[in-house]
Amino acid sequence: MTQPRAADGGAMTFRTIIEPFRIHSVEPLRITTVGERGRAIRDAGFNLFNLRSEDVLIDLLTDSGTGAMSRDQWAGVQRGDESYAGSPSWFRFLESVQDLFPFRHVIPTHQGRAAEKILFTAIGGAGKIIPNNTHFDTTRANVEFTGAEAVDLVIAEGLDPASTHPFKGNMDVGRLDQLLEARGADVPVVFVTITNNSGGGQPVSLANLTAVSEICHRHRIPLFLDACRFAENAWFIREREPGQHDRDVRDIVRDMAALADGMTMSAKKDGLANIGGWLALDDDALAESCRNLLILTEGFPTYGGLAGRDLEAIAQGLREVVDHDYLRYRIRSTAYLGDALITAGVPVVRPIGGHAVYLDARALLPHIPPLEYPGQSLAVALYETGGIRSCEIGTVMFGLRPDGTEHAAPLDLVRLAIPRRTYTQSHVDYVIEVCTDVAGRASSLRGYRIVEQPRALRHFTARFAPAET
Ligand SMILES: Cc1ncc(COP(=O)(O)O)c(C=O)c1O
Repeated sequence: MTQPRAADGGAMTFRTIIEPFRIHSVEPLRITTVGERGRAIRDAGFNLFNLRSEDVLIDLLTDSGTGAMSRDQWAGVQRGDESYAGSPSWFRFLESVQDLFPFRHVIPTHQGRAAEKILFTAIGGAGKIIPNNTHFDTTRANVEFTGAEAVDLVIAEGLDPASTHPFKGNMDVGRLDQLLEARGADVPVVFVTITNNSGGGQPVSLANLTAVSEICHRHRIPLFLDACRFAENAWFIREREPGQHDRDVRDIVRDMAALADGMTMSAKKDGLANIGGWLALDDDALAESCRNLLILTEGFPTYGGLAGRDLEAIAQGLREVVDHDYLRYRIRSTAYLGDALITAGVPVVRPIGGHAVYLDARALLPHIPPLEYPGQSLAVALYETGGIRSCEIGTVMFGLRPDGTEHAAPLDLVRLAIPRRTYTQSHVDYVIEVCTDVAGRASSLRGYRIVEQPRALRHFTARFAPAET
C-alpha cells in the first residue's frame, strides 16, 4: 500500500504503509474448487449467510466481530474476573469507555443490537419517528418492531455512488429541522450513525454533527450516536476536515461524544473485540428504565450480556483502536482495495469508506432489474469464482416493507467488509483479481428470485433460486 506523500510528522520517510503489527498465531485457510463452491452455494439456497465458513476462502461478509485480537487483548482475556457483580473487569471496561465517551451511564450489552432493542423498547412505539442519517438494518428493525417509523435523512450526495463529497454520511440538516418543526413531539431521539455503514461506510463531519446537535437541542430532543465505527469516523475527520489535521484522534472522539446525549455501540467493530457492546447516556430516568430492561434479557448491570474476559478485551481494544498508526493503516488498506478496483474499471461507491469497499452492482449489472437482486447475483458470482464471501446491501436487505410490499432499495451494493488486522496485502491482491475477473464477464450474470423468506431481516435467512428469465 502506498500513499502519495510521506506519513505525517516526518516520522516515516517511506511511502509504503505497512501493517503496524506482526502475526502472532495463524489460522489455516481451506482452498476449494469452483465445483465445490458451486455445490456449497446451491445447498445454501444462494444465500452467503447460509454457507459453512470453512467453505469460504476470504471472508468479507462483515467486519463485525471478525477482527484479530492483539497480544494485550488476549492477556486481558486471561485477567478477566468473572465475579457476578462489581468485577474489576467491569471497572476497567467502564473507565475505558468513559475515557472516550464520558456519558454518566454505561450499560454493557452482548452486542450493538441488544443496546438498540433496550433503548427503542424504552422510548419507541406506534406513532413515534426516529430519524437517522441512515438506519443500519438492525437499528431499523428494532425501531420498526416497536411500531415506530425509521426515517433516513442522509444528504443527497450520500445516495449518489459517484459523488466524491468528503462526508457523504452527513445528515441533511434542512430536512431534519423541517421534520422536527412538524413532528418534534413524536421524535423521542435523533440518531447519527458514524460511519454510515448502509450508505457506504462514509463519515460524518464534526461540523455536521455540531449542526445536528444544535437543531436537536433547540427542539429539546436528545441526539444519540450509533458509534460502531467511531475511530474510523474520527480519522476521516482528522484527514479531511479543515482545522482538524494536527489533532489527536482521541480528542476528536471526545468532541463527537460531547455533542451527543448518548450512544449505542457494537464493540465488534471499533471495540476491536469479537463480541460486546453498550448503551451509554446521560439521562438518569431513561438509564434506569434501560437498566431494568437489561436485567430482564442481558444480565446484571456490571456485566450485561458479557463475561468479565470480554469486558477486558473491549477495554484494551478501545485503547488500541485510537492509535494513529493503526488507523492510518486501516483506512489506507481499505482504500488500497478500492483504488485498485477503480483502476480496473469496476464501479464502486466513492470515496472509499472506512471499513469496506462497496461495489455498485446496479451499475455493473444494468441488465438485472433491482427486484431480481443484482447485488445478490454479484455476491454469488464472487463466491463461486474465488471463494470470496461478501454481503448484499440493497434490495434484498432493504426492499421488503413492514406492510409486506417490495420495492427497489435506493442502491444495490455489494459490500466487501475488511475484518480488522486479519488479512494481508496478498489476500487483498487476490480479491482485486477475482473482482476484476467477475466484472469482466458481468453481462453473463443472471438475477435471482426469493423462494423463502421471513417477515423481517430477510437477508440473513432467505433462500434464492436463479430467476427464470
Ligand atoms: C452501524 C451499525 N449499527 C448497529 C450494528 C449492530 O451491531 P451488532 O451486530 O453488534 O448487533 C451494526 C452491525 O453491523 C452496524 O454496522
